[in-house]
Amino acid sequence: MADRIDGNEVASEIRSALADSVERLADADERPTLATVLMSPDPASETYVSMKQRDCEELGIQTRDIELELDAPASDLFDVIAELNGDPDVNAILVQSPVPDHVDYREVIERIDPEKDVDGFHPENIGRLVAGYPRYKPCTPHGIQKLLEAEGVDTEGKDAVVVGRSRIVGKPMANLFIQKAPGGNATTTVCHSRTDNLAEKTRQADILVAAAGVPEFIDGSMVSEGTVVIDVGINRVDADTEKGYELVGDVDFESVEPQVDAITPVPGGVGPMTRAMLLYNTVKATSRQSGIDVELP
Ligand code: GUN
Repeated sequence: MADRIDGNEVASEIRSALADSVERLADADERPTLATVLMSPDPASETYVSMKQRDCEELGIQTRDIELELDAPASDLFDVIAELNGDPDVNAILVQSPVPDHVDYREVIERIDPEKDVDGFHPENIGRLVAGYPRYKPCTPHGIQKLLEAEGVDTEGKDAVVVGRSRIVGKPMANLFIQKAPGGNATTTVCHSRTDNLAEKTRQADILVAAAGVPEFIDGSMVSEGTVVIDVGINRVDADTEKGYELVGDVDFESVEPQVDAITPVPGGVGPMTRAMLLYNTVKATSRQSGIDVELP
């Protein structure tokens, strides 16, 4: 039986440490503020944004909630971003993706002030990460680093295999694993849809990060005893439930769990960590912008 890595528990420890930092900022009359921008009727995106706002409120972080019509021109979104960039009361900006097809998401990201880019997606922030001096680490891979650390999984010298090369998870995850820094120093392989002999590679992993975006893509034949499996997938699949769907990961839990050393569940694994690291980046942004140093967990 594999250890279940409890993302809710680790995220809750991080949130409570951040709550102290928010109090320190409040003592100095600084109230962190996160602006979320939603331009999508996608129910999953709506849920994510409202969860992010609820997390903030619980910690004493203020939120601005901006919603744009699906058919609004791109210039409306760009105007909103310009206004938030220029507003000294806003420390952090998050534009939920996806955005509609007529809006170029790349341009959206490039218009966000890199100091307020708490997703860590702006080319300047990605460049700093790749160069080895990150400002804001993207929330999901940063959360995975924290989860591994909390589990006592030392990445140094280990074979880390990342399945997926997305801008949000795969690429920054691989970059964090190869950093000469705590949570890095891993020998890192990035696999993707054109990888030959995928299972041969995933079976070599000490740490396997499944971020392919395909439900139950990794099965029991693709893992080895001793592997720590991190499942990034949050896929809604049709099911006979009250909501009409259920959440499944990129890992086929039933067949993988008996074969490996440790595994994150879905839900309750990586998801809560992503949300906690957004709070972390928001507190960090406020600290940087106000010049008030606070401890970060
Ligand atoms: N859509 C899915 N994941 C994310 C994320 O981490 N940040 C933003 N902005 N949009 C997303």
